Amino acid sequence: MEKIKVGIVGLGRLGKVHAHNLKDKVANATLYAACSPVLEELEYAKNDLGVQVTYTDYEEMVKDEQLDAIFIVSPSGLHCSQIQLGLKHGKHVFSEKPIGLNIEEINETIQVINQYPNQKFMLGFMRRFDTDYMYAKELVDNGELGELTLVRCYGIDPSEGLESFVKFAGASNSGGLFADMSIHDIDLVRWFTGQEVSKVWAIGKNAAYKELDEVGELETGAAMLQLADNTMGILVAGRNCHHGYHVETELIGTKGMLRIAQVPEKNLVTIMNEHGVVRPTSQNFPERFSQAFINEANEFIDCILTDRQPSINAIDGLESTKVALACKESYEKNQLVTI
Ligand code: NAI
Repeated sequence: MEKIKVGIVGLGRLGKVHAHNLKDKVANATLYAACSPVLEELEYAKNDLGVQVTYTDYEEMVKDEQLDAIFIVSPSGLHCSQIQLGLKHGKHVFSEKPIGLNIEEINETIQVINQYPNQKFMLGFMRRFDTDYMYAKELVDNGELGELTLVRCYGIDPSEGLESFVKFAGASNSGGLFADMSIHDIDLVRWFTGQEVSKVWAIGKNAAYKELDEVGELETGAAMLQLADNTMGILVAGRNCHHGYHVETELIGTKGMLRIAQVPEKNLVTIMNEHGVVRPTSQNFPERFSQAFINEANEFIDCILTDRQPSINAIDGLESTKVALACKESYEKNQLVTI
């Protein structure tokens, strides 16, 4: 079978993870091109990833007729324009979350996506490809929990990533804590419940890292969500987790409840030593969702090869971003926001 030739834009924290997966772990893809304004990243692409062609200008890359598909892993504010350009030049497009940071631009992007129904578009909500989340979803869909009443989500990045985050946030707009971090949890709330969010109230606090004030970012934020059928959501997001990378989800229903990663365990090893009984924890997103990133890339390539539209689409991007931006507005105005 002819392999799908992929060009990647962005080779930062996550871009390198996707690039290595496309190179080694996605059997039906070949990583053919890379684009970045940073020359060292392009050297890395040639030397460490074996990429044949590199570009500093995205528009030049999408014009490359050798390419079938684009992987967008650039700063969030660039996603919409890059999705549109990729599609207009005949490519299938995978974009990292969030789909965009501005609702008008997202709606314009959806119109462009709809103009190219034969090309595939997929958004990177990789948790839906994590085997634990998939198992939980099957239980919920089979009615094991009864009717869902509440979904509680924690998404807290490791404190040790803070320095690189301040650099990331200083160099480009992350969209803020809710659009950058909670967006995954918002997607999970929508995915598990099948409902849209109607009201949000968000609060936040910066305490340990005052440098976040300087880049207009929040250290810890929380939000309460009300869904269309009165199901509740509670989101906790943060950037100051000292034990590693804490992603935890709880679902409460009329017949029972379940938790996914209530302790964010690294593996099944328990160490007993002078510190007591110690369970190592997952340290960062590439580690925790290593297989999910591979699974989602395989799914995107398979959708191209089998001519199917991916299940995670631009509407998921639009709706989750609406909720994230409503949380930001609620926090900034200190009031309940109706969506
Ligand atoms: P980063 O700042 O580490 O990397 C950004 C990359 O984009 C760099 O390679 C930079 O050179 C490149 N870039 C900057 N301006 C560009 C331009 N004009 N044209 C082309 N390339 C450009 O950022 P990071 O953390 O890798 O995030 C990238 C995207 O991935 C963001 O949208 C973020 O929200 C998303 N992300 C998703 C995660 C997930 O769990 N699914 C985890 C981390 C990030």
